[in-house]
Amino acid sequence: MINIAIDGPAGAGKSTIAKKVAAEKSYIYVDTGAMYRAMALFLLRNGIDPDDAAAISAVCHEPDITIEYREGVQVVLLNGENVNDSLRTPQVSDMASRSSVNPDVRDKLLELQRELARKQNVVMDGRDIGTVVLPNAQVKIFLTASVEVRAKRRYLELVQKGMEAELSDITEQIKERDYRDMNRPVAPLKQADDAILVDTSDMTIEQVVEKILLIIDDRI
Ligand code: DC
Repeated sequence: MINIAIDGPAGAGKSTIAKKVAAEKSYIYVDTGAMYRAMALFLLRNGIDPDDAAAISAVCHEPDITIEYREGVQVVLLNGENVNDSLRTPQVSDMASRSSVNPDVRDKLLELQRELARKQNVVMDGRDIGTVVLPNAQVKIFLTASVEVRAKRRYLELVQKGMEAELSDITEQIKERDYRDMNRPVAPLKQADDAILVDTSDMTIEQVVEKILLIIDDRI
């Protein structure tokens, strides 16, 4: 099977890029962040305190989190319910960032991610795909952009959806999430030794997609 790993910080453009690359190659796009978000939604709905690691470990094996593809779109099912539309709120983002430091949460989602990549050609995006989940991926990309550019992108995304947003708050949230994602003891965000760095700060989406397609064609 062909496995393409795309890792990087929040707002680097991973999901937009990974989705387009997958469509071009007719591979399946796997958004692992959405799985951590589904877990976060479960924890929030159960009133779990994000700083209570023991409580998170105690309940994180309970939810059934699965992925289905409906007309090419990844649908995340939490205990059978399609939760795609509930995964992008700031509360879920914050809980996902906090609860994903928990090794029990990571263990539970790791198996699901590996199984998806065993069965089909995938473009999988996340934080630890090239380093932990798919260390043998044929192509590994580390996608990044400056904090300012990433904050602006997230801000525009929220405003376009009609949500209230403050650029300075988003910048602070992104810095906080970067710090947490990069400094956690288990599976921190970092560039794999054999990953190719792509800085998207001054690139259009089309340019990034084209660059990654060239890298894939070169390797496979
Ligand atoms: O990519 P995203 O913003 O949807 O991810 C949500 C959170 O999940 C993010 O703060 C870090 C965590 N995450 C992770 O720890 N490992 C992954 N492979 C993907 C996401």
